[in-house]
Amino acid sequence: MPTKRLKIALTKGRVEKQVLPLLEQAGIDCDLVRHKQRRLIFDSETQPYEFILAKGPDVTTFLERGAADIGIVGSDILVEHQSTQYELLDLGIGECQFVLASTQDFDPKAPRRKIIGTKYPLITKRYFDRLGQDVEIIKIEGSVELAPLTGLADAIVDITETGTTIRENHLQIYDYLQPVSTRLVVNRLALKQQANAIYDLVDRLADVVNANAKKEVMPS
Ligand code: PRP
Repeated sequence: MPTKRLKIALTKGRVEKQVLPLLEQAGIDCDLVRHKQRRLIFDSETQPYEFILAKGPDVTTFLERGAADIGIVGSDILVEHQSTQYELLDLGIGECQFVLASTQDFDPKAPRRKIIGTKYPLITKRYFDRLGQDVEIIKIEGSVELAPLTGLADAIVDITETGTTIRENHLQIYDYLQPVSTRLVVNRLALKQQANAIYDLVDRLADVVNANAKKEVMPS
């Protein structure tokens, strides 16, 4: 009987770019994914993995519904979508920060009810709840930085990695909420049924993550 392949849902874009070198360091051939063009699903005769490329929120849906065994996705998405699956590894990549940002003239202490634009309404609500502030939240799908620039919102809650988007749009950071990084998450049932294959992959990736972290501490 052929071995059952582990289905790995990988977040398209930035996460995908950063995670492929890690998978390759762990001995996984990613050539098909690298040369994918518009393909979204990759199966190989030579290795026990099948890769699915999807948007971050959909990676959590694939996992929750058991259509993927493993998900590789940012902790921002896992928190926002209240993922209930097992998080087994912090891959130490995709590291960024949630921030409250706006134009220079924004006054975070102003007593009036603020309007906040964000892709992350749950995280935003929890943040302002902690501050004891009732705010209006507007859900925005992308280019969130436009919201305070156009007057759509007073400020935004968004993630920043390099700080370039905030800088180039003349915005300012007013607070830091929580750090974000890319995580490996496993479907609960898959972990029971395919524990050996999953732990083998997780162990290999953990060795790579640890070795890379040591290299960062002690550059040669
Ligand atoms: C994210 C985030 C910021 C940007 C920050 O957007 O929402 O807009 O990255 O990155 P930086 O600090 O490195 O400039 P993303 O690129 O995922 O696209 P989107 O705005 O279309 O969601």
